Amino acid sequence: MRPALEIDSVSKSFGAVKAVRNVSFSVPRGEFFGLLGPNGAGKTTLINSVAGLCRVDSGSIKVMGYDVSSRDYQSARRAIGVVPQELVFDPFFSVRETLEFQSGYFGIKKNDVWIDEILSGLNLTDKANANMRSLSGGMKRRVLVAQALVHRPPLIILDEPTAGVDVDLRKNLWSFIQKLNDEGHTIVLTTHYLEEAESLCSRIGMMKNGELVMIESTDLLLQRDKECVIRLRVKQPAKENLSPLEVLLPNAVCVELGEYLVSVPNPSEVEDVLRLVRELGYEIDTLETENESLEDVFLSIMKASPERSE
Ligand SMILES: Nc1ncnc2c1ncn2[C@@H]1O[C@H](COP(=O)(O)OP(=O)(O)O)[C@@H](O)[C@H]1O
Ligand SMILES: [Mg+2]
Repeated sequence: MRPALEIDSVSKSFGAVKAVRNVSFSVPRGEFFGLLGPNGAGKTTLINSVAGLCRVDSGSIKVMGYDVSSRDYQSARRAIGVVPQELVFDPFFSVRETLEFQSGYFGIKKNDVWIDEILSGLNLTDKANANMRSLSGGMKRRVLVAQALVHRPPLIILDEPTAGVDVDLRKNLWSFIQKLNDEGHTIVLTTHYLEEAESLCSRIGMMKNGELVMIESTDLLLQRDKECVIRLRVKQPAKENLSPLEVLLPNAVCVELGEYLVSVPNPSEVEDVLRLVRELGYEIDTLETENESLEDVFLSIMKASPERSE
């Protein structure tokens, strides 16, 4: 069976900005995949390219085996539901009308049973007849999710769906998306709430400066760095004119004043790193080993991959 999503050597620039650089990966059917990366990493550009909202400069994208930019594009389009990062909607339609209109776009006539199910799953039943413009930001976000689901797409892509959404709604949204995944839908999610990605996604890709810098199963990712990230507090001020530790030590990321996360390639090298820190002129105040937090892994991977200025 072909993967739900196949991205092969995709690049996309906006003028001089290389938003996506030669990215390749695929997402097997049934997976809950997370795409992480700092702001401006290229996640939305990649997702918009998958959704056919943006044309790539080179490379190819297939959804359920259908190429998004060939004559298969309509089959590809039907196979995905995208929840966009930006809130876009028609303010004059009610919630139900918005969903009926979207069904019509896919040529689906009698969709009431499924629409009711989506509304109920997303706790929107009460708002079915409310005008879009009267809804709060969080409610609008739910409608965007509902809209992406009307045609029961096998691949569901959510671009920062919980940005600016309150905790209750996030929980509700996730249990619904989790249920869809259990029923066999493939999910691709971008989020900057790393704890969400950690608990939901079975595999994670990380982007930085348009590149895919890491792709790995969440379990392995958390295991890999289990004993290999240390949180170090150094006494301030250290010696005068001392360069910042993150400059002297390439594996250190400064998380706040005097506090560093240091990725150590191997647990047996922790001692060596501590000795080096002291030799560099720093006095260590406290030391903790970190485990099972995706945040730390994220930081160390971001630090380890090269900066790009062009
Ligand atoms: N329509 C556009 N025109 C010009 N530059 C863009 C456009 N869309 C995105 N970019 C640029 O491409 C880069 C990647 O942006 P984006 O894909 O939105 O990243 P992310 O979703 O990871 O935050 C950024 O430098 C952004 O400014
Ligand atoms: Mg984005």
